[in-house]
Amino acid sequence: MAAPVRVERLSGPAILERLDDLARLRIEVFRDYPYLYQGSMDYERRYLGAYAESRDAVLVAAVDGARVVGASTAMPMAEAMQECIEPFARAGYDLSKFYYFGESVLLKPYRGQGIGVRFFEEREAAARSHRAIEMTAFCAVERPPNHPLRPADYLPLDRFWRKRGYTRHPELVARFHWRDIGEEAETFKPLVFWLKRHRG
Ligand SMILES: CC(C)(COP(=O)(O)OP(=O)(O)OC[C@H]1O[C@@H](n2cnc3c(N)ncnc32)[C@H](O)[C@@H]1OP(=O)(O)O)[C@@H](O)C(=O)NCCC(=O)NCCS
Repeated sequence: MAAPVRVERLSGPAILERLDDLARLRIEVFRDYPYLYQGSMDYERRYLGAYAESRDAVLVAAVDGARVVGASTAMPMAEAMQECIEPFARAGYDLSKFYYFGESVLLKPYRGQGIGVRFFEEREAAARSHRAIEMTAFCAVERPPNHPLRPADYLPLDRFWRKRGYTRHPELVARFHWRDIGEEAETFKPLVFWLKRHRG
C-alpha cells in the first residue's frame, strides 16, 4: 500500500528550501479558474520574497514520498504584501493582531482527503502560538458570476471556509494585479478577505 501523504509545518530557513516547490505549485494550480494566473517566475520572486524575509512565517507542505504535492503559507499580517496590508491599514486595524494566510495549493489527485483541512489546522496552530494574534485572515479572488471561463461544474469554496469558522468581509478588499491566462498585460483583481477570531 502507498504511504500516506505527510503534512509538515516548516518555519525559518526550512521555508527557503521549499520556495521553489511553492512557486511551481502556485503556477500549476492557479492556472485554473477562478485564479487563471499566467504565472511567471518574476512575479513569484516578488511575492515569495516576503516569506524568505519573515521570521514568523510558516509553510505547510504536503509531501508524497520525496515530492511536494501541496503547500500552504501564513505570516504576520504586518509582514504580508502591501496589497494585503492596505485594506486593514485603511480601516484603522491594528495589524499586529492579524495573522495572514497566503495560498493553499494542492495538486488535483490529492484533493478530497482532508489535506485542505489540515492546512487550516496547522496555520491556525501557528497563529495561536503568537500571543498578540487575535484573528486569522485570508483573501480570495472574486470573479463575475457569468465569467466566460467559469467551468460548468465549478464549486466555490465558500461552504468549506464557513465550516472552518470564517466570515466573508466584503469591506476588506485587496487590490492585486496579475496576468490572466491569454492576456498580454496584468489586470486588476479584487480579493475579498475572510476572517476568524481566535481570542480577544
Ligand atoms: C482548497 C484546497 C487546498 C482544498 O484541499 P482538499 O484537500 O481537497 O480539501 P479537503 O479534502 O480538506 O476538503 C475540505 C472540504 O472542502 C470541500 N472541497 C474540497 N475541494 C473543493 C472544491 N474544489 N470545491 C468545493 N468544495 C471543495 C470538501 O468536500 C470538504 O468539505 P467538508 O469539510 O464539508 O467535508 C484544494 O481544493 C485546492 O488546491 N484548490 C485550488 C486552489 C484554491 O482554490 N485554493 C484556495 C485559495 S488560495
